Amino acid sequence: MKVLLLGSGGREHALAWALSQSPLCDTLYIAPGNPGTHTCGVNVDLDALDFEQVLEFILDKEIGLTVVGPEQPLVAGITDFLEAKGHAVFGPSTIASQLEGSKQFAKDFMARHNIPTAAYKVFSGDYYAEALAYVDAHNQYPIVLKADGLAGGKGVLIPENREELLAGLEELSKGSLQAAAQTLVIEEFMLGEEASVFALCDGEHFEIMGTAQDHKRQLDCDKGPNTGGMGAYSPSPLLAKDMLNSVSETIIAPTIAGMAAEGNPYKGFLYVGLMMTSAGPKVVEYNCRFGDPECQVVIPRLRSDLLTHLVQSAQGELLGKDIVFDQQYRTTVVLVSGGYPVSYEKGFPIFGLDELEKVEAVQVFHAGTKEQDGQLCTAGGRVLNVVGTGPTLQESISMAYKGLESISFEGMFYRKDIGAKGLNHVS
Ligand code: AMP
Ligand code: GLY
Repeated sequence: MKVLLLGSGGREHALAWALSQSPLCDTLYIAPGNPGTHTCGVNVDLDALDFEQVLEFILDKEIGLTVVGPEQPLVAGITDFLEAKGHAVFGPSTIASQLEGSKQFAKDFMARHNIPTAAYKVFSGDYYAEALAYVDAHNQYPIVLKADGLAGGKGVLIPENREELLAGLEELSKGSLQAAAQTLVIEEFMLGEEASVFALCDGEHFEIMGTAQDHKRQLDCDKGPNTGGMGAYSPSPLLAKDMLNSVSETIIAPTIAGMAAEGNPYKGFLYVGLMMTSAGPKVVEYNCRFGDPECQVVIPRLRSDLLTHLVQSAQGELLGKDIVFDQQYRTTVVLVSGGYPVSYEKGFPIFGLDELEKVEAVQVFHAGTKEQDGQLCTAGGRVLNVVGTGPTLQESISMAYKGLESISFEGMFYRKDIGAKGLNHVS
């Protein structure tokens, strides 16, 4: 089978690495890919949002399955577009992707199906005054403000007081978030630790595709602004067998059954972001794709064949198929460009990667890298994911940090406490 993978981040390098090892995979194309995916297959210069261009490539190369990495092409409808032309796609439909594409869609869906989540209220139109009056009447801080639409991870604000609320409402209704925040969701603040669970879904059935915890804030001890993710570890000690069973029963099963019952069967990866509250796990968010950098710590643990599972999912044949993981922990530390996520420079040479190729317990996935005149250079905010493997969480953390010592580039920055919060929960 010829496979086309869309995307260019660390998540796609991890997926490409696993897909390229599949006995089912004849040729793997990655569009646009990065220098890391180049070692797994053929990088091609396609724009995933230009559906006609993607279709032309699929026809030309006789692609058997298109795997969509990021959310933007899914929410924009690439699955419906390609399936209507008779091509197999791994990823949810346009409407099913609304679980990530619209916070209101997700919240209303959870309310209809009694899926535990924070209490909420939706505001639309010229909502500034009405939203302010609503929060004033409740006078409870922190409070959570969410732009309804995709906002590249920047659409959630959590004001701690009235002054921050005023600034937040201004930003959402009139400022830089206006396009994503035509509709606003205000929700109750949930207290607890966050963990994520991934499900592989075929429209009717699902299988757990691992658990992980990420670190969204820029600086140690969860300080600084939110980022795309500074590191992650898998499995999550908060989601051991019994808890995971309970999450499957109370959250994932009703999500898959509810989507199917409403005529929007969910196929693809479902990412469920959870808050482990004192009243049990509740949904913080759904994403319609794998997490980044969570994918980079889950996929290396997989012992069964990824492409086989993706085909089973796309064809509605997941029932009874076991997804097998090893018993090791994985931790990834993300090496970022100095100043990320606010402002940073690119184009600096990266040194020291060759040495790591020989170290078995360390794996590197590329994100924002580029080859310039034969030299690997930085080309984005999140540059590399260094993944450590070990029989315990502590050992996987140590391997990741030991591995990254050999890597350097100008302005390189990383968090020093990735995985530390997980050590509180393992013996
Ligand atoms: P989201 O994009 O919905 O995942 O929100 C981004 C981040 O905001 C989450 O990972 C949480 O850390 C935080 N967050 C979102 N909703 C809530 C909530 N209701 N209570 C507490 N924190 C939240
Ligand atoms: N790491 C968070 C995400 O992929 O949305």
